[in-house]
Amino acid sequence: MDMMTRIAELLEKQLSEAWPEAQGLPGAAAIRPLLEVPPDPAMGDYAFPCFRFAKVLRMPPVKIASMLSENWKFEDTARAEAVNGYLNFFLNRVNFATETLHTVLEQGEKYGSSTIGNGKTVCLDYSSINIAKRFHIGHLSTTMIGNSLKRIYDFLGYRTVGINHLGDWGTQFGKMVCAYKKWGTESEVEQGGVSELTRLYVKFHEEAENHPELEDEGRAWFKKIEDGDEEALRIFNWFKELTLKDTARVYDLLGVKFDSYAGESFYNDKMDRVIDELREKNLLTVSEGASIVDLSEDKMPPCIILKKDGATLYATRDLAAAIYRHDTYDFAKCLYVVAYQQDLHFRQIFRVLDKMGYPWAKDCVHVAFGMISFGGETLSTRKGTVVYLEDLLNQAQEKALEIIEQKSPGLENKETVARQVGIGAVVYTDLSNSRIKDIDFRWENALNFDGESGPYVQYTHARCCSLLRKAGDDMPEMDPKALENDEAQALLLLISRFPDVILDAADKYEPSMITRAVTDIAQAYNRFYYEHRILDEDKAGTAARVALTKATRDVIRTGLYLIGIEAPERM
Ligand code: ARG
Repeated sequence: MDMMTRIAELLEKQLSEAWPEAQGLPGAAAIRPLLEVPPDPAMGDYAFPCFRFAKVLRMPPVKIASMLSENWKFEDTARAEAVNGYLNFFLNRVNFATETLHTVLEQGEKYGSSTIGNGKTVCLDYSSINIAKRFHIGHLSTTMIGNSLKRIYDFLGYRTVGINHLGDWGTQFGKMVCAYKKWGTESEVEQGGVSELTRLYVKFHEEAENHPELEDEGRAWFKKIEDGDEEALRIFNWFKELTLKDTARVYDLLGVKFDSYAGESFYNDKMDRVIDELREKNLLTVSEGASIVDLSEDKMPPCIILKKDGATLYATRDLAAAIYRHDTYDFAKCLYVVAYQQDLHFRQIFRVLDKMGYPWAKDCVHVAFGMISFGGETLSTRKGTVVYLEDLLNQAQEKALEIIEQKSPGLENKETVARQVGIGAVVYTDLSNSRIKDIDFRWENALNFDGESGPYVQYTHARCCSLLRKAGDDMPEMDPKALENDEAQALLLLISRFPDVILDAADKYEPSMITRAVTDIAQAYNRFYYEHRILDEDKAGTAARVALTKATRDVIRTGLYLIGIEAPERM
């Protein structure tokens, strides 16, 4: 059992013994979330604020705290001290160390997991790339936040559905087919992939400046795609395949997977139903020829459902997609991991679903995130400062390899480790701040082995692995007294709080909380490691320090896994 639960149970007991008559005292489950972590460890490991009970108990909080501390009789769990209306707890260090290590080592890779999800389904819409565009670092956050949330929810016992809502619909694809027919060749497109498609698209726009009739031709090709014209569709599907083949390399490097690639075009035949329904429910009005859902009551611009020419829009497709997902997966939650710029779009969509009478509209969440810049420069295709993800990841691997060559020239499989470290450095940077904050990517931070970085955490994990190899498996009974020191205790506290961090991260859709936790754990381990010899003549003490090392390794590995980073055993 974890310490917060234990203390909460003891508090419940003590409260009801001290005030048997009192009505409305909380049970352990309600007490647990009230427990605080004091800002300074000298004030205790946990604190229980007594203020909110003043009313029920008709007594000043200071008095409540002192009464509780005077009668506190669970010294084998924690010592209690009353300070200013708080009851501060100091864990019994030996027991705490024994219990925490027992729990972590017994559960191993499962430590921190849960069945709280109870098989309920969470849909996650992430990455959601656009066809015929190269994957640039603007799509890194959606990909990695979504990937991490998927792993987190899986770990908590949910069934997850990862959806890549492809941007595979729009007039630009007609233009692209048109450009291909005019200036492209099959072999060039096969070879050049998405870059060649981009070249054709740019050429189309250049030519259209002097030949505006091209625009009509482009639109005509798009109409053909929509109408299912065999040639148009064949070319377009081929472009789509090429894009997916190009991005598959990136997804492979990042270890990202999807369960569905149902994108915008998938909803072509699923929108009529939605439009009819909107009409039946009297939600559609015509404004300047377009069909809209008025949202002025909600102080939002209208949600446009059909353009003047009857064409559907991004929003129409998202409405159809939400309904389809609910019908198909019966989700408990549908998360949209999309940049904050689309905030209004999602508020509109969710509001329209709500107006349609879908109670599950409240289960749709826009998980927004900030922008990424590179060395202080915002990225723009126009300015030529766009950074392609595959290039970035390749560079990351090269740079990591250089560092590894220097630091550990004797290492086997350097290439594999360089991949793990290079990619890990990029992913860590992406998930190191609360998601809504903008990120500035800098190599010197990402690959700083001594700073707060992916490589630093990975290195600590490898350090643990190396110590465990040296220690061997043959360990006597451990002496937990070896873990009474401040450094071991600080580390144990972080480890014991790790399961709560995972729950919190899921609750707030915030992978960065896990990044923070593994970084804190790595730092705490290194402090412990520098202050105390892990392996020495004292066999029972060694066994305790080795057990703590093992627990640290397991937790770091799990944490890294949950944010989508591999944990090499040697580096
Ligand atoms: N393809 C879009 C973009 O790159 C993101 C799609 C997000 N998902 C959604 N269901 N609208 O901006």
